[in-house]
Amino acid sequence: MVDTDDIFGGGDIFNRRELLRVGHVPGLDRVVGRDSEVTEMGQALGPGTRGGPPDSVIIYGKTGTGKSLVSRCTTREAQRKAEENGVVLRHAYIDCSDYTTETQASRELTYQLGQNVEADRDVPRKGIGAATYRDIAWEILNEYKVDAFVAILDEIDKLDDDELLRSLSRAKESGKADCHIGVICISNKVEYKERLDERIHSSLQDNELIFNPYDPEQLRAILDSRRAAFQSGVLEDGVIPKTAALAGREHGDARKAVDMLYEAGRLAEKETASTVTESHIDAALTRAEVNRVKQLISGSPPHVKYILQALALLTKSQNSTAFRTSAIYDFYQRLIDREGMDTISQDRVYRLLKEQAFLGLLEANHTGGGDYEGAYLEHTLITEPEVVLEALEDSSELTPRTE
Ligand SMILES: Nc1ncnc2c1ncn2[C@@H]1O[C@H](COP(=O)(O)OP(=O)(O)OP(=O)(O)O)[C@@H](O)[C@H]1O
Ligand SMILES: [Mg+2]
Repeated sequence: MVDTDDIFGGGDIFNRRELLRVGHVPGLDRVVGRDSEVTEMGQALGPGTRGGPPDSVIIYGKTGTGKSLVSRCTTREAQRKAEENGVVLRHAYIDCSDYTTETQASRELTYQLGQNVEADRDVPRKGIGAATYRDIAWEILNEYKVDAFVAILDEIDKLDDDELLRSLSRAKESGKADCHIGVICISNKVEYKERLDERIHSSLQDNELIFNPYDPEQLRAILDSRRAAFQSGVLEDGVIPKTAALAGREHGDARKAVDMLYEAGRLAEKETASTVTESHIDAALTRAEVNRVKQLISGSPPHVKYILQALALLTKSQNSTAFRTSAIYDFYQRLIDREGMDTISQDRVYRLLKEQAFLGLLEANHTGGGDYEGAYLEHTLITEPEVVLEALEDSSELTPRTE
């Protein structure tokens, strides 16, 4: 029988694992490698901390480059600084991927503002329109004598309409709010710029900030600052440099780098190892790849999985990586026969292979045939065959009984 005291035991790897979890927002003093971006944000928000109008800012950059983090930290810091100066600066943070309509986003803005000033009025959950929600926000700003208000609209490209942005930029001049208002817009889609209307765009464009992917040095500093997640002496020396080098080379995404370190720690914990080693990082990387492939194939019909299995097995066993449809079809038939299932036609397999290329799992190239043959297609797996096979094994739909 299990010892009930033991089943919830913490293990000897982590000390404060929350430091590596999503949702952990480090303080501004732990934001590393973004000094110039933090400074520029500070300059934009600075006037707001002294009773003047904060500048609006638009931030672009790929995923995991610190856009949300830097915006939240500097705004929070601006609020603190304003307080020191006897100025009332307040903010609201809205993740527009959770609040995609103008009404939802306006309600959330009003709700967050209410929380921030500790207003004792309730914001109705529903039943009123976007403009009325915003009227409540203006009332709160006036009632609580807010000097400057900063609204962070994160993932703003997910918002289905520009009206909230437009009314924020007009609230003061139209006399609705007696308060300086600044907006921080964040998007990881540079195309968003083209969608913005000319007037809003020109008011934002002076403060356009681009966040570039992190280089290995920066990632190393970010990971280093979270060492305290582990118990002392547990993390082997090469682990952080290796994670940083891999992540820096692949994508420069801090979220992925932190996730990888966490996953390596979890693998070490599962094995009841006493240290986290570089091989745990390799295993974490493979795990992440397997999960990605699993996700890609999760919605596919069962035959796609046998076709992929055939291609992966061929790639593993032959001296080649590119295979013609007919070769894949032969192998596929053998697999299906073994399962006692009915095969689909070679033409159908051909079309499914082309669809799979679209998913990014394999690529198809035309190759010139000999004199009597026309050009034909050859299919190549982009991902390691072992990874594909493991993903297929993990996905339960591969068993024919679920057909
Ligand atoms: N400079 C940094 N210092 C410390 N941690 C960082 C830094 N940059 C990013 N992180 C961490 O990496 C993760 C991703 O950062 P963030 O959420 O700010 O990315 P993002 O640019 O907003 O990405 P997305 O476009 O996907 O929303 C967070 O957990 C954050 O705490
Ligand atoms: Mg973000």
